[in-house]
Parts: sequence; C-alpha cells; structure tokens
Amino acid sequence: MLAKNRLWFQHLLYGILCGLFSSSTKWTQNKMTNEVLILAGDGIGPEVMAEAEKLLRYLIDHEGLDLEISHALAGGAAIEAVGQPLPDATLAAARACDAILLGAVGDSKYDGLDMSQRPERALLGLRSALGLFANLRPALLSPHLADASPLKPEIISGLDIMIVRELTGGIYFGEPRGIHTDEEGQRVGINTLVYTEPEIVRIAKAAFEIAVRRGRRICSVDKSNVLESTVLWREVVTEVGADYPQVELTHMLADNAGMQLVANPKQFDVIVTTNMFGDILSDLASMSTGSIGMLPSASLNDSGFGMYEPVHGTAPDIAGQNIANPLATLLSVAMMFRYTLNQPNIADRVDAAVDTALARGLRTGDIASNGIVAIGTSEMGDAVVEILSSRGG
Ligand code: IPM
Ligand code: MG
Repeated sequence: MLAKNRLWFQHLLYGILCGLFSSSTKWTQNKMTNEVLILAGDGIGPEVMAEAEKLLRYLIDHEGLDLEISHALAGGAAIEAVGQPLPDATLAAARACDAILLGAVGDSKYDGLDMSQRPERALLGLRSALGLFANLRPALLSPHLADASPLKPEIISGLDIMIVRELTGGIYFGEPRGIHTDEEGQRVGINTLVYTEPEIVRIAKAAFEIAVRRGRRICSVDKSNVLESTVLWREVVTEVGADYPQVELTHMLADNAGMQLVANPKQFDVIVTTNMFGDILSDLASMSTGSIGMLPSASLNDSGFGMYEPVHGTAPDIAGQNIANPLATLLSVAMMFRYTLNQPNIADRVDAAVDTALARGLRTGDIASNGIVAIGTSEMGDAVVEILSSRGG
C-alpha cells in the first residue's frame, strides 16, 4: 500500500516538474543548502515537530544532508511572545526559506479575540501570502491499521483517496465579511463564498494532473443545487475536464459526499473541492484511515514551494503529555522531501520507516487496539529514526 502510494507521489512529482506548476522550486543545483523553517505552533504542535526535527537532525548529522533548520513563532505561541499570530519576522522567514514545516495553531483561550488576531490567522495568512492554493490531503489506509478505523474492514481495506482542496479562496477569504449591527440594532454575521474562474481552473488542473497519474477518476464536490458560486465551480471543472478525456469526471453534492465517504469510501479516487468542503471532508475521510494522527498534507503554490503539516490540528486535550501521534508529521516531512526539496529517495525511506514501525506493531494511543500497549510521541519518533538509520542511505 505504501509502496503504491510512493509511486503515485513520484508520478505527482513528475507532473509537478513537467509543468503542473509552472516553474521550478527555489531549490537549484547551485544552492545546495536548503533552509527549512519550522513553525511548531500550539497544542501538540511542538511535540510532533520535535520528532520531525529529530529526524532531520539525524539526516544532517549522520548522513551529511545539507539542510539548515530555523524556527519562528506562529499562532498562539506568537501571540504570547509578540502579541500577534503571524509576526512580520515569521512572514519574512517564510518567504526566505525553501520549505515550511508547520505543527498546528489554535487554542480556545483566544476564542474571544477578533478573527484577525486569532492563532488560526497565522495559517490563513501564510496560505494567502505564499499563494498556497493546492492542498493535497491523502487519505490512505495502511494495511497495518485496518482494525484502527471505526469503519468495518470490508468498507475501508485498500482505501486510497487524494483530496485536493482549494486553499486560498472561497468562503475563507471572500469579502465582505465580519459582524456588524444593522439599522434595527440586530447583529449580522457575514461571510462571502466567492470563486473566480481562474481560481477554479488552476485547482481543477492540479486535480486532473494528479488523477491522470492515479486511478483516473475525479469526483468534484460542490453544492450546486443551492450555491451559484459552485454552479460556476461545476461548469468550470467540467470545461477543464474536456482537456482530460482519459479521466472520468463525476460531480457530487457535498452533503451526499459526506455520506458516501462513510458508506462507500472506496468509490473515490481523487476528490476536488472548495476550501470549506475540503476542510470538512478531509477530516471525515481521515477517520476512515484509523486516525487523523496518520495524515500528512502539502500546501503548494504554483512554483512548487510548499508548507507541510499534519492534518490533525492542536489536540489541546492531549498536549504536553507525550502521547500524540507524530507519524502524520513524519509523513509530512516525507512529502516535503518529495515535492519541494526534490529528494525522493529520502522521502521513500521515511515512508518506508513509518511503514516498518507500524508493521512492527508500534502504536501511539490513537491507533492502538486489541490490547496493544501504546508508546509515546518521542518513542515513536526514536523508532522511526532508528529504523531509518539501520537501513542507511
Ligand atoms: C485545516 C484547519 C484550518 C482550516 C484551521 C485551523 C484554520 O482546520 O487546515 O483543516 O480550517 O483550514
Ligand atoms: Mg480542518
């Protein structure tokens, strides 16, 4: 399963290099030292990022990987330190680096703050400022984890979906937005769902390029029975699809897609959808794979620059206890090596080391079942590094 996944990622990388995204990354043969910026953030972010850094340090110290690691503040951690979620210094560092690894941002203690001051603004601000419009969220079930899913094995065995979520448009960014008081003194909350044709074209193209290299099926998810912006979405995706006759395009309403992801998730190959539907459906799909703690993601711009992060979020209820699952983060590191740092060999090895850890029965609490004793965050990180080192480069 993971080998198949790696193959698809290689195919995707090929697509990226061949023009899915228009130019090469900032990485070049001349500039050998890649700079990775770590934004650990909040909740379990620092714990899982420590395991990513452990892995990177191993590669630097023992295998001569030419990589520099730097850190910057984002989210609640930045609010505490300098009073804003995305400090200018962090944005400048993000623009200067070759790739970003992000843990998670958010904390309910900031719920009362204006939207522009909340931790999540760091994430949204980075996505927007860096143009990270293509969010790839694979939902892949490891054969070693079939019994960790709440769904029956026959429904999910062999599950392998790629959700392609539009990330810089839609209702997350549409104007007008805000809360105001109308003439009658009633409060009114407004958000705007807006998609322009070019925004739909570029995400649709990205999704079709991915589908060509996978199972050649795309399901575009919208709510075109109610929302005009997604009537346009459906039309434009269909038009882009005309250039990809080898890919079977279907359309599904978002509510039905939620139901189908539980009832019969294996019907899907690639799902392409809007920012908000992608947010919801990717969490939903993740549970089919056993744990949201297993899922990596890549957010790419049109030059292949990427921000890599686990899908799981801050999980404040388990933060600071060394029980969070670091595997989604380590798989995100693998995606970073594959898509942005152009080192597919390292990406393969990290994927394989994670697979071996699972095959050996190593489990954090979220994926432990049948009486298996769970290990901690740092022990899982140690195990993956140990497996990686025992195989050499
Ligand atoms: C995600 C998260 C974010 C989103 C939040 C933290 C802003 O849920 O990456 O899925 O809604 O996009
Ligand atoms: Mg989400």
